[in-house]
Amino acid sequence: MVEIKDFHKHTGERVSTQGWVMNTRSSKGLEFIILRDGSGFAQCVADAAVVSAEVFEIAKQFTQECSVRLTGKIVADEKQIGGYELHIEQAEIIGTSENYPISNKEHGVEFLMDNRHLWLRSKRQWAIMKIRNRIIFAIHTFFQNEGFVQADAPIFTGNAAEGTTTLFNVEYYGEDAYLSQSGQLYGEAMAMALGKIYTFGPTFRAEKSKTRRHLSEFWMIEPEMAFYNNEMNMDLIEKFLQFVVSDVLTHCKFEFEALERNTTVLETLIHKPFKRLPYTQAVRILKGEEQVNGKTTIETLESDLSLIETEISEKRTEISEKEKAIADGTLKKGQINFMQNKIDMLKNDIKELEAQAENIPQWLKSAKEFEYGSDFGGSDETVLTRMFDVPVMVFNWPHEIKAFYMKRDETGQFAKGVDVLAPEGYGEIVGGGERETDLNYLIGKIDEHKLPMEAFEWYLDLRKYGSVPHSGFGLGLERMVSWLCKLKHIRETIPFPRMYGRLNP
Ligand code: 4AD
Ligand code: MG
Repeated sequence: MVEIKDFHKHTGERVSTQGWVMNTRSSKGLEFIILRDGSGFAQCVADAAVVSAEVFEIAKQFTQECSVRLTGKIVADEKQIGGYELHIEQAEIIGTSENYPISNKEHGVEFLMDNRHLWLRSKRQWAIMKIRNRIIFAIHTFFQNEGFVQADAPIFTGNAAEGTTTLFNVEYYGEDAYLSQSGQLYGEAMAMALGKIYTFGPTFRAEKSKTRRHLSEFWMIEPEMAFYNNEMNMDLIEKFLQFVVSDVLTHCKFEFEALERNTTVLETLIHKPFKRLPYTQAVRILKGEEQVNGKTTIETLESDLSLIETEISEKRTEISEKEKAIADGTLKKGQINFMQNKIDMLKNDIKELEAQAENIPQWLKSAKEFEYGSDFGGSDETVLTRMFDVPVMVFNWPHEIKAFYMKRDETGQFAKGVDVLAPEGYGEIVGGGERETDLNYLIGKIDEHKLPMEAFEWYLDLRKYGSVPHSGFGLGLERMVSWLCKLKHIRETIPFPRMYGRLNP
């Protein structure tokens, strides 16, 4: 059995292959199918003039998503998906598929989500999952090459790491426990044993809101390094993200193409230093009080708005041209379907652009009114990152809005935390910083955050026995997938998303 990804090794040979039928089309004694097997996609053709009547009859019975075994000759054809075509000689149906619920037409998102177990088979979802896989592989490669030890943190925990508002409660043999919000506190303990570690596991946040960035269950990669200050931490984050992006660009060309992802921004940032901004400066830029490359956020957003308006009118023209061509009545059925699909896509694009255009005045308003000392909201991050073509690292935050464990700076006003905001409107993908080492200050912070001291006794021990400066960060895997694939919503980044209002399938 030859997998589709290996067709190129068997040009001109007769092979057997197996998979699922994505698509069927018949024309003048020819049956065309698009076969997928998880490893790739290939067009396969049965020609009535070549195969036996029996085989041709089987090929005619193929339906969307039936599983099949085919034998035939592999022919190079660069016009076809994957660059090879299979000329069918033998065919067999393994499993039939009647009335497959997902068609090539547009479906509503809720319908697709209810059918997530099947939706995963679509080419787009396949591409996203392949990119997700490569990101994970690159993450491990990077940290293993840098001498980090993967050390796993528990999922059941007795303490809150990231505030008490997003905890999932569970009963643990009659005791109250939570699902982990972050492996960091355990990561700190493990770094004191192993030097440089990373955890990579599921984390849970009860986020009772439906946003395009929040899941209730997501995977986080959390490195923790002994003897690192926050500058070293930021250097590592930059090197790490550049490595991962570069690796994924190299290995996922076909997948990015399938997603129609323009990767220019990604190609730029792998060579260019990230923008580092102290919180105070980030706020000035956000509010339009400081320019970036001769422009304020206000001016940038206003010109973005007019670009969007031009784009909308261009797409409207394209639609009316296509509608005219259909109305002419000279097109064949296949061409009409193709055009109609394009029109539907254009209409969708317009809807999104209109939504964006509607957002901009609101973003402008909230940016202007941003109050120094508060945390950035999603739209603030979008506005700020629109000013740069590389990720922005915002550091030195007002300590009041950051977690209890963050190290104060010399002035006592700021916490040595860092948030990495991804470009193209994606916003926060990494949160991290240097950890407080002062035992009494930490005790005060635990009190201030109204956290139960008993649950943190083991954590405080780390400051009593050979405490050293240390830092770390957390990258949300799904945020990274969403950005690299340029998805509109985080729900497509994980095989079975868990988010507010959804537990099935
Ligand atoms: O900024 P956060 O809350 O930081 C921490 O948990 C630290 N303990 C990490 C550390 O220093 N070791 O979360 C880190 C990242 C965010 O930047 C975001 O990418 C992701 O985790 N994240 C989420 N992703 C999806 N859905 C959610 N509800 C998320 N909450 C955080
Ligand atoms: Mg954060």
